[in-house]
Amino acid sequence: MDLFEYQARDMFEAHGVPVLAGKVATTPADAKAAAEEIGARSGGVTVVKAQVKTGGRGKAGGVKVAKSADEAEQHAAQILGMDIKGHTVGTVMIAQGAKIAEEYYFSILLDRAERRYLAMCSKEGGMDIEQLAVERPEALARVAVDPNVGIDEAKAREIVDAARFDAETGAKIVPVLQKLWEVYRDEDATLVEVNPLVKTDDGEIVALDGKVTLDGNADFRQPEHAALEDKAAADPLEAQAKEKGLNYVKLDGDVGIIGNGAGLVMSTLDVVAYAGEKVTGGAGEHPKPANFLDIGGGASAEVMANGLHVILGDEQVKSVFVNVFGGITACDAVANGIVGALDKLGDEATKPLVVRLDGNNVEEGRRILAERNHPLVTIEETMDGAAAKAAELAAAK
Ligand SMILES: Nc1ncnc2c1ncn2[C@@H]1O[C@H](COP(=O)(O)OP(=O)(O)O)[C@@H](O)[C@H]1O
Ligand SMILES: [Mg+2]
Repeated sequence: MDLFEYQARDMFEAHGVPVLAGKVATTPADAKAAAEEIGARSGGVTVVKAQVKTGGRGKAGGVKVAKSADEAEQHAAQILGMDIKGHTVGTVMIAQGAKIAEEYYFSILLDRAERRYLAMCSKEGGMDIEQLAVERPEALARVAVDPNVGIDEAKAREIVDAARFDAETGAKIVPVLQKLWEVYRDEDATLVEVNPLVKTDDGEIVALDGKVTLDGNADFRQPEHAALEDKAAADPLEAQAKEKGLNYVKLDGDVGIIGNGAGLVMSTLDVVAYAGEKVTGGAGEHPKPANFLDIGGGASAEVMANGLHVILGDEQVKSVFVNVFGGITACDAVANGIVGALDKLGDEATKPLVVRLDGNNVEEGRRILAERNHPLVTIEETMDGAAAKAAELAAAK
């Protein structure tokens, strides 16, 4: 999960990284009020900053200096609603204005290939670090960081030396890098980037911008990270599935898919995509998978009903393919799950279901489905046959 700049700022502050005061606003009037408060610390000067999860806000006109609260209000009116690289600005941060002497760059990220972390640092920070990395790579120091040691004082010195900071500036940056490492480690981040890290006219080192990516695999030990999620941007179906503990990804097709086991579901997507092309002879729009949904090992009526509820809530879905290989959870239990789910959903179940069961106790599973004889359900024996049927039903609608 990527954080907004204001969330990164708050996180930095909580870990003792020097930052400037900042306050978010969603209306020009609130921006003005925030600017009156924040500006009191910096001679009335504030910076109005678009809060969108993309870089290059400055260049796009989403970062503007205001010399008064009225000016901050005007900037906010202009920036709110602005489109920056496909992201609509709904929030601005009113930040205390810094008197910048120099702009630097610092980041820590996960280097998967090297199985380490990588710290990058440059005396030439600011807006165009990607360009710098390409045109003058020697100006961007890259220092490997041992995960078991992290960025201690010695490592921080190594980094500032590699970036060729003078002794005085380097000494001031060292403790800031150690704090940024604490953010990276303690918050289970995969990226912490500060561009620019600035030296002010007073010689202070301050993080003026912050980009943080958190590792979702660590959510189990970071319960407070759930509150950082941008609920407004999340796909409503994905949010609903997450709430029910389902492993669901929305895709842009019309054949809903439920399977047990990530591998089976992945190959089901392929088979449906192929069958969809065949239905139309490859011409024009053809049926495609509408989602990924892995219901895992236990296919109880409840889990099946939750899964079907999410998929049927997708307006694009025209047919549903339930592809289950009975293992520890035998096919009869799955069949009972499907029947129970359909009964549970009642009138809500309106789209045709193609079911392919195989594996443990398949005969009994098919018998249960045949006996219930639900008008929406078609039983198919093979995965290919079921995919073809589901694609055909989607194309016919
Ligand atoms: N609080 C601030 N005070 C003064 N200047 C700022 C402040 N925040 C940002 N800036 C200036 O605006 C530039 C762009 O802002 P930044 O937050 O880095 O956005 P982005 O990286 O998305 O362009 C910075 O390089 C800096 O020069
Ligand atoms: Mg920046």
